[in-house]
This record gives sequence, C-alpha cells and structure tokens, in this order.
Amino acid sequence: MNRRPILEGIEWLGAIDWNRRLFDALIPLPEGTSYNAWLVRGTERTALLDTADPTTGHLLMAQLADVERVDYVIAHHAEQDHSGMIPAVLARYPEAKLVATPRCLAMLADLMDLPPDRAMPVKDGETLDLGGRTLTFMHMPWVHWPETMVTWLEQDRVLFSCDLFGSHLATADLFATADVYEPAKRYYAEIMMPFRALIAKHLDRIAPLEPAMICPSHGPAYRDPAFILTAYREWVSAPPANRVVIPYVSMHGSTAMLVDHLVASLTDRGIPVQPFDLTVTDLGDLAVALVDAATVVFASPAFLGGAHPLVVSTAYLAGCLKPKALYAGFMSSSSWGGKIADSLAALMPQLKVEVLPPVTVKGMPRADDLAAVDALAATIAEKHQALGG
Ligand code: FEO
Repeated sequence: MNRRPILEGIEWLGAIDWNRRLFDALIPLPEGTSYNAWLVRGTERTALLDTADPTTGHLLMAQLADVERVDYVIAHHAEQDHSGMIPAVLARYPEAKLVATPRCLAMLADLMDLPPDRAMPVKDGETLDLGGRTLTFMHMPWVHWPETMVTWLEQDRVLFSCDLFGSHLATADLFATADVYEPAKRYYAEIMMPFRALIAKHLDRIAPLEPAMICPSHGPAYRDPAFILTAYREWVSAPPANRVVIPYVSMHGSTAMLVDHLVASLTDRGIPVQPFDLTVTDLGDLAVALVDAATVVFASPAFLGGAHPLVVSTAYLAGCLKPKALYAGFMSSSSWGGKIADSLAALMPQLKVEVLPPVTVKGMPRADDLAAVDALAATIAEKHQALGG
C-alpha cells in the first residue's frame, strides 16, 4: 500500500497486516489488523506520527523513500506494533527529534536501542508548531498502557488517537463504514475495557474538541467521529444489560447438561443468554459478550481435582478484562475433587461482583441438581429485575 492522503498535507502510511491471526500471543485476529502511521506536513516542518510493527517495517520504509525530511517522530505509545520502527526511522532522518511523554520515552529506552540526544519529552497540553499546523499533545494514560498520549491537530480538527478507538480490521478502506462497529467493539473489549473508568474521563476531554476526524492506530479512520464516540460512551458508561454469559467446558457431558438446563431456564424467564464452549470459543467473541452482560456463570468439570484449565485461564482473563458484570455464578460437576467455585472466584479478585450460590453436582445431574440450576436462574432473574433489566 502506498501513502494515501486523508487531507491536504496529511497522509496515511503504515501497513495492512492481512494475514496476522494472533496479537499479544493471545488475541485472535479473525480479520487481520493494520498499523497506521500519519505524515503531517506544515509549511516549515514535517511530523511522522507513529511507525509500524517491525514485521511490516519494510513497507513503511518504502513509503518514506521519497520523503526527504522528517523533523519530528511522534511516539504516542511504546508498544512495538507502533514504535518498533522508531530506531530505523530515526536512523533514516538524523535531524528528527523523538517526541513522546516522559514515561513513554523511558519505556522506549527499555524496549529498544535508541540513539542518544534525540528525545524530546512533551508535557500534557504542550504544542508543536509545524508552520500553519499546530500539534497539541494530550496525555491519556491507560489507553491501554500508562505512557500513552494522543495528538490534536487544531487547524484540521483531527485527533490522532493511537490505540483508542482502534479496530483490528485489515481493509483497503481508509475510512470507516458501519461495518467497523463489531471490530471496534471487539477491540474495546480486548484492549480498553479494563480501563473504562479512565476512558470515560478521556472521553470528557475529547468530546468538547468536536473532532472532524479521528485517526486511530489500528483500523480505518472516522470521518464521522460521533459514531465511535457514541459507541464508546455506551460501552464505557451504560449500565450492564439483562444478559448472562456462560463460559464452560464439559469433558463427558455432565457439565454440558447443567449449562443446557441453565440456558433453557434463563430463556424461559426472558433473559438473553450466551453459552461459550471454551474448547471452540474465540476469546474475542467472549470478550465482546462480556462488555454488556450483568451476570457471568462459569461451569467446569473437575480436572485432576480442580477446575478445568481452560476455565481457569478464562476466569483469570475475565478478571483482567474487568467487565461491568455485577454477578458471578459457578456450576461444577465432579465425582472427586472440589472447591471449584472458590478456586475460580479467587482468580478474579478485580471483579467487584456478588458471587451467587454455586451449583455443585456429583457426577451426572439428577432432578434435584437441575432444580438447583433452576434456583440459580431464578436468583439471576430476581437480581436482574432489581437492576431494572
Ligand atoms: Fe496497538 Fe497497544 O498497541
């Protein structure tokens, strides 16, 4: 992909990573991803905002082949999918300064070899005049690392938002269509959800700017920023929905019987429910479901005396993602071993949930066990009613 103009004097660079299928050695990328960089030219100086993942760095360097001068390399975020080509870019442009928050500069120095005396730390609200174009740097920590900033281009009303508002979506479309909603929600769920309280404050800073365009570092840019700003406000701030998510594993069918019965019992009570068999689940799909659900119920058989490892890792991940769920339930089937509910609950100390009475079954569920599942469904219905859901 060649450089592509988004406005007069502002160009997209970077790479569309069509075939990448895993991020952070964990997150599935069913639709690939992209690494967006931006070249902003003033009458006096030129800035390159972010770089690209080193695996695609040759594409960025080819795009820069006929760019004779870059005065500033802006690093919004130290993660290597955007910063990884900074050493090569600084080598290509020996006159360029590396602009970032002080913490980002320190982290970059940890993560890669940088030439000495090129760093240019910027404070929150500090500006940089390119000649007719002014970049304002807004520190926005925890979207999703602690060092991050975004850049506001006042004259064109463009917000370069780094990972915030991004989507893992490989597409030749420079600008978002309605199709980006699900990939953007998935990205929010996987990356941003743990920091939603801070993101709500960042949204309060961004909204009054009334950006005409938002350019994130993954996925297409937004010519209608209200689309993504409204979506983020809802994901971050709306109360949890009358919905139940059930991550589970079943080895020989007993746990699946519990799950099937809970799904039926909740459905009979008018409560939307999504079961996720963790042996075939895409973790991104599960993360999206966790964005809105008021209750999550984990179900596991005993595996060597404890919870199944797939359920263990998912419970740990759910704790890390910090969804807005208010209630957690546990169901387990075992003929030996136990304390599955307690061990799973202990993996999620970050979740501020009320733990519902667990359903613990010895072997194959019988009538009284299924009655206990009905009781769990009734409790969930009662709790959700109290929510107004
Ligand atoms: Fe896209 Fe946090 O890097």
